[in-house]
Amino acid sequence: MAQQKADAWIILSFSDKRLPPADNAITKRLRRMAEGWMKTSGFSGKHGEITSFPSWENLPAKVVVLLGLGSRIDLTPGRAQRAAATAARLAKRLSLREIAVSLAPLSSLPSIPVENAVNALVQGFDSGRYDFVEFLSAKGRRHGKSDLRLLLTDAKQPTALQKVVAEALLIGEVMTDVRDLANQPANEATPAAIVRTARVLAAKYGVRFAAARRGELARTGCNALLAVAQGSSQEPFLLTLTHRGRNPKLKPIVLVGKTVTFDTGGISLKPGRGMEWMRYDKCGGMAVLAATLIASRLKLRHPVIGILPIVENMPGGRATRPGDIVRSHSGKTIEIINTDAEGRLILADALSVAKDLKPEAIVDLATLTGACIVALGHVLSAVMGNNEKLVEQLRKAGEASGDRLWPFPLLPEYADAIRTPFADIKNVSADGAAGTIIGGIFLRSFVPENIPWAHVDIAGTAWEEKEPSYTASGATLFGTRLLIEWITDLEKTDR
Ligand code: BES
Ligand code: ZN
Ligand code: ZN
Repeated sequence: MAQQKADAWIILSFSDKRLPPADNAITKRLRRMAEGWMKTSGFSGKHGEITSFPSWENLPAKVVVLLGLGSRIDLTPGRAQRAAATAARLAKRLSLREIAVSLAPLSSLPSIPVENAVNALVQGFDSGRYDFVEFLSAKGRRHGKSDLRLLLTDAKQPTALQKVVAEALLIGEVMTDVRDLANQPANEATPAAIVRTARVLAAKYGVRFAAARRGELARTGCNALLAVAQGSSQEPFLLTLTHRGRNPKLKPIVLVGKTVTFDTGGISLKPGRGMEWMRYDKCGGMAVLAATLIASRLKLRHPVIGILPIVENMPGGRATRPGDIVRSHSGKTIEIINTDAEGRLILADALSVAKDLKPEAIVDLATLTGACIVALGHVLSAVMGNNEKLVEQLRKAGEASGDRLWPFPLLPEYADAIRTPFADIKNVSADGAAGTIIGGIFLRSFVPENIPWAHVDIAGTAWEEKEPSYTASGATLFGTRLLIEWITDLEKTDR
């Protein structure tokens, strides 16, 4: 450890309470102090446990923080991220700006490669210090994203790890920008406002930007999307964000994100209780926006195209009625039985637009079904698709990024539930059984079988309602890290 000045010195420790070996006078002293404090405070090193003590003996830090990572074999990137984020939130409360941390304890873990652990740790430190403060009048009390300066104190940090750290911080910058948009309420983040902000961010990060308005949507036959929009006074849009890729000859990876700025349910009105959270029904689109901007920032080799169908779902006088039938962009007709199953309607058109781009693969992200929360709670998101290899790639990327997924089966047997005598397909089943899978089955019918496609249902993971120790309440941007991990992984293997 170099003799660097810091406000806080964080010591990563596991439940075996073995501290990293000391290699100089300072770390020896630090080690001795930490061991003493572990005994006094009863610190056990369990996951997320934090204790701090003022440093003495003229150490180059004001406070020493012991951060528990739990047992070595159980450490996953997600757990490392959450522990680091908890520490960052604490540091923020204590106005500790410069944090020194040694990466050495992460170098020989049984469960994860050091790069993944370091990436998770740095992203955790970065995202943990975020708060959404745009509408807090007493600004002095709480800062937005606090100023955090990480001093990574390993003298022998290989350049590969330095690159991991730098990239994690770049990703964090983009995520902060997009998180601020995702957290805005629906009166601020209207479809038009999202388009304006996305245009600014696209310019900032070097992404090409195109927005189709109502006229163009009507001309190209996006009638399922228009049907959702017609109950609202807000104009709908379909955004296309293009990162050209260092190798523009490669087939594009197309990401599609449900962007419903507010979901009242439409004429199939939702109950009032808790409806305020439906401002987060845009979070699939927000995660896709962030991932596309990051693809550009990291100069990924593949072209990456983000498609955002953006609407507000309201029960106005022109709203779609249950039983209405529309012809979608794909040519298929849809009987809209329930106007609250609007996500799949706008995605049907967006996926059909996506397939015309001749993509290598399509992945969509959506807060699609309440049933997904019943099945998986707020821990995992559901993944399903028409291609097992793609689903498995995504599941793996989920483990490595901390955005964890669980596969759901799209068996043909489920398709009977959304047949109707009156149109090619209907948007909900009669009994609501297997709601998350039915959502997937519906979407699948708008993607040709020969294009690998996967759908990620983030209904339970897109936002936090009560503030946990490791993050601000509000948008999580679940899926952004997943998509970036997946694409960078693809680029490692298929060169
Ligand atoms: N946006 C909701 C899904 C949702 C609900 C996400 C709660 C997160 C929390 C979606 O548009 C919806 O309303 N889905 C319906 C589908 C049903 C009508 C088949 C649902 O889940 O009830
Ligand atoms: Zn809905
Ligand atoms: Zn919705």
